[in-house]
Amino acid sequence: MLEVANLSVNYGSIEAVRDISFQVPEGKIVTLIGANGAGKTTTLSSISGLLRPGRGKIIFQGQDITRWPTDQIVRAGLAQVAEGRAILSPLTVAENLELGAFVRRDRAAIRQDIDRIYGQFPRLAERRSQLAGSLSGGEQQMLAIGRALMAQPKMLLLDEPSMGLAPIIINQVFEIIRQINEQGTTVLLVEQNANKALKIADYAYVMESGRVTFQGTAEEVRSSTHVVEAFLGKG
Ligand SMILES: Nc1ncnc2c1ncn2[C@@H]1O[C@H](COP(=O)(O)OP(=O)(O)OP(=O)(O)O)[C@@H](O)[C@H]1O
Ligand SMILES: [Mg+2]
Repeated sequence: MLEVANLSVNYGSIEAVRDISFQVPEGKIVTLIGANGAGKTTTLSSISGLLRPGRGKIIFQGQDITRWPTDQIVRAGLAQVAEGRAILSPLTVAENLELGAFVRRDRAAIRQDIDRIYGQFPRLAERRSQLAGSLSGGEQQMLAIGRALMAQPKMLLLDEPSMGLAPIIINQVFEIIRQINEQGTTVLLVEQNANKALKIADYAYVMESGRVTFQGTAEEVRSSTHVVEAFLGKG
């Protein structure tokens, strides 16, 4: 469904991403794992059109989207949940969800989708009139995911959804990601929390210093001595 081929991205003279290639098949969960500064966010932002890659191609459902503007990429079915959640704090939960549907004009279906999201995230339903900035970290992450779903994406790009959350909340967020995937949305999950990501992913790519240094099924990555030593530790 998504193919990234020979992607390179520079910030001035810094080579943040160096000639990486990977694929995300339809219906799967693929994870990009790696330490701070490995180039994970740079890669996601290039896919979603927030950054212009220096070299390489990004193909989504057979179309070359490499130079498309972000709103056109969202309309094509790719929605990103940004690192640090990026919800709009001075707006309510309900207003944040409505904004997620900015590419749509089907008012009745938008209302139905908001209700569906409240069904999936009961904590958001209870807090629909609360300002987003006053939600807990876990609730903000759920709102960010809910808002991305309002664009009716075929593929969801998630940038470190576990960041800053307590272990029990991380488990809830990952369970929701698994459910969203089961309901038919393809997922590209960027994580530093490799142990958690590998539990729900079908396939994984390991990034180090801007390069893909290892790839395999979640099982293969978990049993790679190099990956275990570099990222997974004893956990
Ligand atoms: N706007 C920028 N200007 C200059 N350098 C940048 C910029 N954004 C990122 N970088 C550099 O690019 C490299 C990759 O950063 P990136 O944010 O993609 O890493 P990451 O894998 O997402 O890390 P983290 O897990 O900490 O979020 C880093 O060395 C970083 O300092
Ligand atoms: Mg990042």
